[in-house]
Amino acid sequence: MTAGKIDNQRMEKIVSLCKRRGFIFQSSEIYGGLNGVWDYGPLGVELKRNLKDYWWRVMVHDRDDVVGLDGAILTHPAALKASGHVEGFSDPMVDCRSCKAHLRADQLGEKKQCPICGGKDLTEARQFNLMFETHVGATADEGSIAYLRPETAQSIFVQFKNVLETARKKLPFGIAQIGKAFRNEINPRNFTFRSREFEQMELEYFCRPNEGMQLLEYWKEERLNFYENIGIPRAKLNVLNVPDADRAFYSKGTYDIEYEFPFGLQELEGVAYRTDYDLSQHQKASGKSLEYFDDETKEKFIPHVVEPSAGVDRTVLALICEAYTEDEAPDDKGKMETRTVLRFHPRMAPVKCAIFPLLKNKEPLVAKAKEIVDLLRPHMSIFYDESGAIGRRYRRQDEIGTPFGVTVDFETLGEKDAALRDTVTLRERDSMKQERVAIKDLRDMLLSRIV
Ligand code: GAP
Repeated sequence: MTAGKIDNQRMEKIVSLCKRRGFIFQSSEIYGGLNGVWDYGPLGVELKRNLKDYWWRVMVHDRDDVVGLDGAILTHPAALKASGHVEGFSDPMVDCRSCKAHLRADQLGEKKQCPICGGKDLTEARQFNLMFETHVGATADEGSIAYLRPETAQSIFVQFKNVLETARKKLPFGIAQIGKAFRNEINPRNFTFRSREFEQMELEYFCRPNEGMQLLEYWKEERLNFYENIGIPRAKLNVLNVPDADRAFYSKGTYDIEYEFPFGLQELEGVAYRTDYDLSQHQKASGKSLEYFDDETKEKFIPHVVEPSAGVDRTVLALICEAYTEDEAPDDKGKMETRTVLRFHPRMAPVKCAIFPLLKNKEPLVAKAKEIVDLLRPHMSIFYDESGAIGRRYRRQDEIGTPFGVTVDFETLGEKDAALRDTVTLRERDSMKQERVAIKDLRDMLLSRIV
């Protein structure tokens, strides 16, 4: 796959919709914003939860060989020394002497020119450590340093023995975690794509040394299936087999799963065979054995690990970019107009079903619609809307990606045809097709389409 066309205009529309409809806001916006930090609004938080819940379901609950962990964000400096982060978790940085911008040296391109002011007077590159440092307790000295974790993975390695002993798992097995990670990125950019505070969904899948390469292939395929199951088609994904020179020295194989964002083909997830590097480092540094005793062969060894590591924020952004569509639809008077619609997979959609009484001042319609609200609310996220023309109400839901709309009309009340009493119109977002459904069948029909 090629790098793909850059579509800035599309990206601008997406960013604007995210703010206008309450998906994503700049953090601390009323104070001028904090660069590289984002808040998720009422719809964004639902979308994010749907993604994380689905990941947890397929990676942990649906499997016998994976258990979960929720590690702390504040991390002991010794753990991050052992992992190599204190010494080596850095990006090369240069400063522009003209506009004082700090720039990633490896993103300057051929011209070696400041992308902000065009200046060519740049400093020599130096390494900039991306970890956020803080102090624990009342004294701020060398001895009180702690770090905000730069990845969730390390707490999994550090707790490996505790989990092994308490969960009583046999190899191969995995430990999964979803949580915040922090990196003081030199150049946060492309909306939420490169942030300073973000969330990861990581699995460390421990195995015997001879199983590593095969499991790398297995997890790459599993993860590609995952993206298809949340509505990101295979054709929009690229698997980059990371060449030897670009891989971490301890990795025997790494795939980057990339998505064709409007700003180009970019990494969504890394799937890496990390050998026994992490556990060996922690065993060496802590002096505690992190070995595994194999009952069958009676051998003791440090397990190897395959790690699928995905970004929550990047996947949310990919879901929004993939869903964003403009098409043509008739307005209330039948005239065609441009419709903005987020074609989320129903599984991911923040609101599953909107419920509308045809008219708001007809009490029996409103009462019936509210009965349907009560019927569906325990089972899915719903939205009740009685204001404005029905066409406008449909459009508002299309724009936030609600896959189903239920309209309560006079036929529901049996006023025109007794046979249609207690039926409603069910409208599907993408095709805009409408069908007549009995209220008693509504819940199960919707549930079967949103799981
Ligand atoms: N434990 C391995 C690890 O952290 P990584 O490639 O540095 O590997 C994994 O990060 C994933 O975390 C990335 O593929 C990306 O989805 C997400 N990620 C990393 N840095 C990010 C950032 N600054 N902003 C948003 N997501 C980020």
